[in-house]
Amino acid sequence: MSLQTINDFSIQKTEKSKIDSIDFENVKFGTVFSDHMLVCHYKDGAWGQVEIKPYGPMQFEPSSNVFHYGQAIFEGMKAYKDDNDDVWLFRPRENWERFNKSAERLAMPQIDETRFVDGLKTLLQLDRDWVQKGKGNALYIRPFMIGTHPGVVAGPSSEFMFCIILSPARTYYSGKVKVQIAEHYSRAANGGVGYTKCSGNYAGQFYPTKLAQEAGYQQVIWTDDATHTKLEEAGTMNVFFRINDTLITAPTSERILDGVTRKSLLDIAKSKGLDVQVKSIVVNDLLEAIKKGELKEIFGAGTAVTIGQIEGFAYQDEYHQLPEIADEDSYAVMLKETLQGIQTKAIEDTFNWTE
Ligand code: COI
Repeated sequence: MSLQTINDFSIQKTEKSKIDSIDFENVKFGTVFSDHMLVCHYKDGAWGQVEIKPYGPMQFEPSSNVFHYGQAIFEGMKAYKDDNDDVWLFRPRENWERFNKSAERLAMPQIDETRFVDGLKTLLQLDRDWVQKGKGNALYIRPFMIGTHPGVVAGPSSEFMFCIILSPARTYYSGKVKVQIAEHYSRAANGGVGYTKCSGNYAGQFYPTKLAQEAGYQQVIWTDDATHTKLEEAGTMNVFFRINDTLITAPTSERILDGVTRKSLLDIAKSKGLDVQVKSIVVNDLLEAIKKGELKEIFGAGTAVTIGQIEGFAYQDEYHQLPEIADEDSYAVMLKETLQGIQTKAIEDTFNWTE
């Protein structure tokens, strides 16, 4: 376990912890935040000192870039506690690298590994009691960066804030969901920002998702913007399909997020000897497979939910229900149990993903 306080960070501890007022068993995803946060400002071409201080409101000029032009990116990660009360991060350097890819695309500065990873570990060390033990429990980590320079000139900000906040989490979605395949709206286009975790990517999904929800579905399966036939993501997650015993997911591209959960599941599935294919899958493949009784499972994969099973999908106003599958026969359940086992150290981490 390598959470340590190191480096020259400024640390101001809260006078009174809120932890005793939190009902960890019933906390709603993303609504409760821990005692401390990490803040670091970028000005005159350089990042300043990392400050760890009590979580609380901040003040920004109303003309700050983020409010008008949306220079804003984020990451999603989790910290887990094992049976010995040690706290573990899962592949945090993957998130740091992806954060910098998002930053580059959004004309924002790169952040160094020390401020991101060591800063996070120092913050977690302070708030380690907020990481709860037990199945499905974790502390969700939300690093983000926004353009803070005042002025409504349409150009990149010259000042930024990097911040990390922590939120106790149980599973994000519960139960299987019904999804609608997108036939008009798109979340991403070639040459766009689909592969980044920029905030606008998510804001753009809210309206089509609301329409899908009004029609009785919880999420949208996003298709490619050019033909609306390639199945690319599900809600805020990567998406997997099981046809007979083959597990299929689309290759990452300019439109698809390079999900840490996605790539971890692919490695686990291969290590279990499953037939895994990373290839484009189109709506007709799905319709044909369901007609022949070959479509066994669909699931989304992301940090917040880990794996979210899908019970059926709507396409061109027709709903297709997947057959029932017992937990012991489900790839989704097996992969989720294995991944969560590795994350919480209940299963040996032969991949060296935890630190
Ligand atoms: C994730 O699952 O990693 C996400 O990005 C979901 C988040 C938008 C709540």
